Amino acid sequence: MSEQLYDFGMVGLGVMGRNFLLNVADHGFSVIGLDRDAEKATALEVEAGTHPAKGTTDNQTFVALLKKPRIIMLLVPAGKIVDVVIESLLEFVEEGDLIIDGGNSFFEDTDRRMAYLAERKVRFLGVGVSGGAKGARFGPSIMPGGLLAAYDQVKPILEAVAAKVGEDPCVAFMGKGSAGNYVKMVHNGIEYGLMQLLAESYDILRRIGGLTNDELHEAFRSYNAGRLQSFLVEITTAIFKQEDDLGSGQLIDRILDKAKQKGTGKWTSQNAMDFGIPVPTIDGAVTMRGLSSLKQERLDAVELLNVGTSASSVEKKQLIKEMEAALYFAFITTYAQGMSLLAEASQEKEYGLDMEAIARIWRGGCIIRAALLEDIRQAYQNNRDLKNLLVDPNFADHLKETHVSLRTIVKRAIDAGIPTLTLSASLAYFDAYRTGRLPLNLVQAQRDYFGSHTYERIDQEGIFHTEWE
Ligand code: 6PG
Repeated sequence: MSEQLYDFGMVGLGVMGRNFLLNVADHGFSVIGLDRDAEKATALEVEAGTHPAKGTTDNQTFVALLKKPRIIMLLVPAGKIVDVVIESLLEFVEEGDLIIDGGNSFFEDTDRRMAYLAERKVRFLGVGVSGGAKGARFGPSIMPGGLLAAYDQVKPILEAVAAKVGEDPCVAFMGKGSAGNYVKMVHNGIEYGLMQLLAESYDILRRIGGLTNDELHEAFRSYNAGRLQSFLVEITTAIFKQEDDLGSGQLIDRILDKAKQKGTGKWTSQNAMDFGIPVPTIDGAVTMRGLSSLKQERLDAVELLNVGTSASSVEKKQLIKEMEAALYFAFITTYAQGMSLLAEASQEKEYGLDMEAIARIWRGGCIIRAALLEDIRQAYQNNRDLKNLLVDPNFADHLKETHVSLRTIVKRAIDAGIPTLTLSASLAYFDAYRTGRLPLNLVQAQRDYFGSHTYERIDQEGIFHTEWE
């Protein structure tokens, strides 16, 4: 009897890799997994139950047991290890085989790897996968980029395993080259922004409104029942209820306020700076993770920098209501910033991104999935060339309706001395975007004054320089 060959291979049987592979197996494809750890390889076979699945620790066996042209996905930590794994497979794979990197790889690494593998006639896709461990197991949002023909090779499998919104799978070809990793990076930038907005709202509700964890749970539960409905609001709601299994009370009060980061939010900010696209809410979120890490310095400054701020009191109910509208406003502007960066990257890097498709596949499976994304999808359906979500007529109405709440919230926080870098940035982004004449004429004058950098005029064409007194 000839040996069983497998449809789909996975390198890396950590939580994400194993879950993704089990998801593939659930959809009727035979799967094989490779991991250096023999226990993980065995665990895969046990967990797969009656599905045709095999685990191995040997590269050669792994590659030999895949149907040709082979489909091999990597779910290993981003960075050097991806190159090491690719190198270890190159000895065995053949022309036409497909390697898929499903990790949070930096897009420039993806471009480099794609070129390297193209020389060896091996196909390569850089694929963003979002949804955490649960998403990988039961339906992630998948953002593939590279050669369209390579995507077509794996499309039936990715469509089967992706999250579904109605009948719609949350996967679509994003574009050529590193488009998939770029879109995933910006997804994570937006994720950072939304998370920090929620953290600031928690701070304000707790410190100004005096809400207990139970009351916070109720407030966020009500938010999640309305227009803020989203995965991040949903888990925030649940977090306030979680009991501490190592002590008394709720766990949230025992967690150290230092946020770690693996880099995708920072890359989004850095790349937005390179392209000259403003993403201040995302920048603020990255900055706040940095500030959170200065724990000892902050503690040392508490007494010295005590300035005795105090906020005027407000009814809990009123504050909760204001916060709902403020968050809605800030969520819209955060998605708007991320989408505008994607639109620019599409031009700069010639990705050919379809903004509607991106909004469509983010509606389910991923960390930033939200009811709002259907409205975003519609905005791009109505106008494919929409410059910024802020000027979609529908969103413009929402922003006009909610901006006063965000202003009130920010004022309250300023009076109370509570930092609101991302809430404030979301408002400033909106205010700057709708200001016909910003004070940057002064910056131009200063540049020309000290450095003869020249300026343009509003009343005459041309480039000017003044011998300033
Ligand atoms: C996702 C997540 C996932 C990961 C983040 C965490 O879409 O499933 O974004 O990719 O949890 O990268 O990022 P930080 O460790 O930087 O917060």
